[in-house]
Amino acid sequence: MMDSEEKIQRIDLPGLRIVRYPDPRLREACDEVPGVSDAVRALVDRMFELMFAARGVGLAAPQVGVTVRLFVASPTFQDTDRRVYINPQLTMLDGSQDGDEGCLSFPNISSRVKRYNVAAIRATGLDGNVFEEVGEELTARIFQHEMDHLNGTLLVNRMGSVAKLSHRRALKNLEEEFGKK
Ligand code: NI
Repeated sequence: MMDSEEKIQRIDLPGLRIVRYPDPRLREACDEVPGVSDAVRALVDRMFELMFAARGVGLAAPQVGVTVRLFVASPTFQDTDRRVYINPQLTMLDGSQDGDEGCLSFPNISSRVKRYNVAAIRATGLDGNVFEEVGEELTARIFQHEMDHLNGTLLVNRMGSVAKLSHRRALKNLEEEFGKK
């Protein structure tokens, strides 16, 4: 069993890709990040590169096959809006929102998912300091979606039975594609 420092040290950065459902790494519970090292900063840079290229607004480390507790986000999808959450925890949830949600590990699938409308998060930043941020609407949705990833919970687990049925074909295609590798 690799510890999380080893997981981070051994990453082949140029070889990182966004992994898709049903890759088993997406189901693993992730380990705490031991500290903000150069390797962590390099991983974060690479994750932003992959996230922006895929036109996403959030990306969790397990989505690039690195099962540690870290995610990046850019709710405004601006290159200058780069938010990093290391060892994050949700500290407050309030209200509710119902809207479409996608995931870079489920290309071309979006589904209605009910979420809290406000979410507060506590995390360590790239500077090593703990900070707190309150997100609303899309930002709150990103927080909850990415926290799900760190716990091995996926979009497909948040879909209702009707949504799952309507995406049956697309999900099956992803399963078949993965099976061919
Ligand atoms: Ni996702």
